[in-house]
Amino acid sequence: MNNIVLCGFMGCGKSTVGKNLARKTGRSFVDMDRYIEQREGMTVAEIFEKYGEDGFRDREHEACRELAGMNGLIIASGGGALTFERNVKVFKGTDTIVFLNVPLNVIAQRLKNDTRRPLLQRPDKDKVMRELYEKRLPSYRAAADVTVPGQGTPLKTAFAIMEATNIKK
Ligand code: S3P
Repeated sequence: MNNIVLCGFMGCGKSTVGKNLARKTGRSFVDMDRYIEQREGMTVAEIFEKYGEDGFRDREHEACRELAGMNGLIIASGGGALTFERNVKVFKGTDTIVFLNVPLNVIAQRLKNDTRRPLLQRPDKDKVMRELYEKRLPSYRAAADVTVPGQGTPLKTAFAIMEATNIKK
């Protein structure tokens, strides 16, 4: 049984929707960031601080390779993961990649008070978020086998993914 990999920008709901999808399909859920944190014994923010973004990306790639070697999972990827070709290659063809498409204004609202994501802890956060969003959108679209709108409730979105990917309960 292939994995379902959710991708999309920070705050698009990959983890919440993924948990709902796992519950509805009886599959196991893995949050890629939490997986990396457990492996490293550090939070994502600490990994960024200690090893820089490149150090985080290498660990993220390793996590992609390991998770792609497993079966039947619902995987919530990190917001940057599937914007890198080397990570897309790891999943493409075997697993189903789903892009959760949520407009920038909704994302900005959801991330307004975020203190957890290292890329957003800066005074020009809104500008950085907009530029990153616009830059990444084509990568998510290119990576995805299926695109699903993600601004509804997590449960509705989970059902939309089940329909779009043909996975059964
Ligand atoms: C990142 C998104 C984060 C996390 C890290 C980098 C990104 O995951 O992997 O902070 O580059 O967009 P979420 O999408 O779960 O916030």
